[in-house]
Formats: sequence, structure tokens, C-alpha cells
Amino acid sequence: MAVGTIAIVILTYTMDTLAKEAPMSRRRQIYEGKAKVLFEGPEPGTIVQYFKDDATAFNNKKRGTITGKGVLNNRISEYLMTRLSEIGIPTHFVRRLNMREQLVKKVEIIPIEIVVRNVAAGSFSDRFGLAEGSPLPRSIVEYYYKSDELGDPMVLEEHITAFGWATPQELDEMLSMSIRINDFLTGLFFALGIKLIDFKLEFGRLYEGEEVRVVLADEISPDNCRLWDVKTNEKLDKDRFRRDLDRVEEAYQEVARRLGILPEGGPRDLQGPDTIQ
Ligand code: TMP
Repeated sequence: MAVGTIAIVILTYTMDTLAKEAPMSRRRQIYEGKAKVLFEGPEPGTIVQYFKDDATAFNNKKRGTITGKGVLNNRISEYLMTRLSEIGIPTHFVRRLNMREQLVKKVEIIPIEIVVRNVAAGSFSDRFGLAEGSPLPRSIVEYYYKSDELGDPMVLEEHITAFGWATPQELDEMLSMSIRINDFLTGLFFALGIKLIDFKLEFGRLYEGEEVRVVLADEISPDNCRLWDVKTNEKLDKDRFRRDLDRVEEAYQEVARRLGILPEGGPRDLQGPDTIQ
């Protein structure tokens, strides 16, 4: 047998065996959350974030679908994370892969949700009896412990460090980054006629050799921000879904439109190719 023929036989056998054992196109799913699915990335230390159209509220009690949300949040989060990295905020974002997926660095999520508020709304209005839309004397930062079973309870720095969810130094870094992110995003959205009422951030530990760094993770999108039109106070975020308001899809589209990042084909293109495997 010629060398070329032998090579082809070996190659065919190997590919056949591989295909049976682990189809090469199949990626390992690491985690499925309420709005995203995480897959093992193409290189070590990377993850693929797939954005779903699923929406939940009130700790999964209300469920639904917002058509095109995944495509828009993928773009919006890409845009905002890129702008933030330009001002020196370290993030997990690497690059967008397609309509519904982005490549991110694998991090260990710190189980704390940081909420920054500029204007009273949502649970803050309920807790303090303040009308939604009342401006706050200054930006207020709150911490919540990420736990579906406990319903994400609000916690103090004291709880976070005592239980070891984050070290005092990590908490300092998360706090200073959150305040900087708030200042930057408030200005960015205001220039587009949008008030940034409040938002939620998550951070993760990025292990690079001996070094560990705290970086911004998860996503920034109308799913985890409150965004109101400056002139009309119209809600352009997930509160439209939470509160059974109309034109939910249009709100996400409007945010993307003002950011100048609607997908090429416009709103008709929002379903996007379903590249989940
Ligand atoms: P809240 O007023 O309901 O506490 O929400 C504050 C902000 O945090 C708001 O922008 C929505 C966002 N958020 C999330 O991203 N995930 C959540 O689970 C909750 C409750 C709020």
C-alpha cells in the first residue's frame, strides 16, 4: 500500500472512532441558567455564553419568552463591556462569536450581586416607601447573596467577609469598580436620552498563573438594568415583562437602536441562527 493510502485509512479510522466516542461538533454544556447557557470554550480557560430568549422574574415564579432578547442582549452586553474595558475596567468578555453567543474568560463567580441605585425603584421603593422615580441623595450600593433557594437575600459587608464569599480586598475592588461603572454608564446612557435608574453587576475571579484578578462578569443588558426614557420616563427594560406591560420586545430593540447596534437586518433578524449544539 502506498504511504498516502495508509494515511487515509488511519485518518478515516481515527475520525470514525472519534465521531462515535465524542462528536467533534458537540460542546460540553457546563451550566444552564435562567437567561443563558454556558458551554466549554474552544481553548482552555474560555467559555461560550449562549443568550436565550427566556425571561424569568420573582425568582423564577414568572416565566416567559421575549423574542429576540438573546440576540439583543448578546450585542448590548458586548458593546457595554467593550466600552468599559476601554476605560480600564477588566472584564471577562473576549469576543462575540455569532448572533447569540460570545466567548468569555472562565472565571469563578463571586456569589454576590452588586446593585447600584441612582433613583428609587423596584424593591428599594417598596422597602423605604419612596415613590418610583424619586432621586436619591447619592448613589447607593447594595449587596445580595446569590442563592436561588434563599431568594437572593440582601446582605452586609460583614456577612460577605465573615462567611468568606469575598475577601475585604475583593469587596473593595468590586465596590470601586461598580461606582466607576455607574458613573460611566450613567453618562453613556444619558447621551442617548436614557436615565440609568439602577443595575446589577456580578464579578468573578480570573486565575492567570499565580495571579488572581477580580473582573466584571455575567452580562450588562436591559435584563439587569432599569433604563427610563429621559423625557417620558417610559421603561426600556425587563420591568415591562415583570409588570406585564406591552411592547416588551420593542423596549430591548429601542435600547439597541439608541446604542447604534441593531443587527444588520434590523428587527426582522432578531430570531438569529440557532447555533446551540
Ligand atoms: P430590585 O429593585 O428588584 O432589587 O432590582 C434592582 C436592579 O437589579 C434592577 O436593575 C434589576 C436588577 N436585578 C437583577 O438583575 N436580577 C435580579 O434577580 C433582581 C431581583 C434584580
